[in-house]
Amino acid sequence: MNLTFTRIDLDPHIRSQVAQILNDAAVTLTDLYVQSKLAHWNVRGPHFIAYHELFDQVAEHVQESLDSVAERAVTLGSSGGQPIGQVAQLSPLDPWPMGERHDQHVIRLLSDRLGVAANQIRSAIAQTAELDPGSSDLFTEVSRQLDQDLWFLEAHQE
Ligand SMILES: [Fe+2]
Repeated sequence: MNLTFTRIDLDPHIRSQVAQILNDAAVTLTDLYVQSKLAHWNVRGPHFIAYHELFDQVAEHVQESLDSVAERAVTLGSSGGQPIGQVAQLSPLDPWPMGERHDQHVIRLLSDRLGVAANQIRSAIAQTAELDPGSSDLFTEVSRQLDQDLWFLEAHQE
């Protein structure tokens, strides 16, 4: 990876390694953002308004996290984020099943995907802890938000 010049004194090899972890997270968060919106737009059923609003809140938090994660990669001298075609290829999340609209199914599907993302980011905290505490701290913040959103989703289910 070609890194841009920065006065940050981390070894370029470390910056490159951490940026890769950040951009992997950005891929997952980009996919999770779109899938949260698909849930927000397509959900139907007795819980429509509660879920419609909840899924939008999730999408908003994910978008903010994505922005911080991609910008941290750029801060370290890397490129930030991935084009949508790459996201589709690289994301660890199952694709969104467009036929599914029933509120109880939709909330479970979104919980599954949010869980995968939350666990990936949790492991990124440890992966970057020694290499770059600044990125690790950002992952900690993102992880806490994802965990809380997962709680909100799970608390709406039996
Ligand atoms: Fe909306």
